[in-house]
Amino acid sequence: MRINSWPDFIFSKQIQHFKLSAKIDEQKIEQKISITAKQDENQSLQNNENQNDTILYSNLSCLDTNKSSLSQKALDGDQLKTQFSDTSAQTGPWLTEGNSSKQELLEALRLKLDSINGISFKSFANLVFADGNIDSRLMLVGEAPGEEEDKEGKPFVGKSGKLLTRFLELIVDDNGPYDRTRYYITNILSWRPPGNRTPTLEEIEIMKPYVIEHINIIDPLLIVPVGAIALKALSLQGITSSQGKLHKVMLGGIERNIFPVYHPSYTLRMPSKKRDLWISLLKMREIYMSLEESCLHK
Ligand code: URA
Repeated sequence: MRINSWPDFIFSKQIQHFKLSAKIDEQKIEQKISITAKQDENQSLQNNENQNDTILYSNLSCLDTNKSSLSQKALDGDQLKTQFSDTSAQTGPWLTEGNSSKQELLEALRLKLDSINGISFKSFANLVFADGNIDSRLMLVGEAPGEEEDKEGKPFVGKSGKLLTRFLELIVDDNGPYDRTRYYITNILSWRPPGNRTPTLEEIEIMKPYVIEHINIIDPLLIVPVGAIALKALSLQGITSSQGKLHKVMLGGIERNIFPVYHPSYTLRMPSKKRDLWISLLKMREIYMSLEESCLHK
């Protein structure tokens, strides 16, 4: 990078510091991960034998006007991709109006989901709405609940959910580990599909306006689609090429930052991908911290 001015100099120092501390963290945590990954791989070999067990697995103004801030420069310099996909037709008439609190809006959304039509298996399954901190601006969106999630009524509590949760808890910043007090987590589909089958395109289309409403209520700085189906539902294709990279997508007429990662259940079936998931989650932390900082400095 060419240093032309004092702010450029400070910026370059900050970036060096940022990269160095991320590297040190990465090394430390990678030691832990390789132990955990080894255990998981052993376990997944056993588990993979059981096919049923695996699922195929705003303050918004702050975001689009902060391109000149230091943190945003860090993002631009990396893999910021822009992809527009007009989904304004999916914006429902109900969107976050009035003075209702987040909690009330979420409650109203839950009631709407209760009365949704077109999801045939809904009456045989429990509604799995969401978990985590409703005030967090980091929002993870998975595919659909599995058996454990259906039983407990919470997303990502089964085998693959535990892997994701454990990885996230190993990621730490000044506010501590990324446990469920640090993020909000939900799914595209709110009910377990029969036999854990992959949701159909039609089911995804039915759910999409509700997912967009959910996103608008939480108003995340960063959305993390977990796996190919969530990514597709949020208007991008190709998990392999887009995972671990930041994209901008129009959702319900609003530009959102999205950062896809592999689904943990995919990495249970393909243990060699576990490292990619881990590296992407580390990068997710960097990007999320940068976005938060951009907002603070606005
Ligand atoms: N897989 C998902 O995509 N979501 C869950 O809640 C659990 C497993």
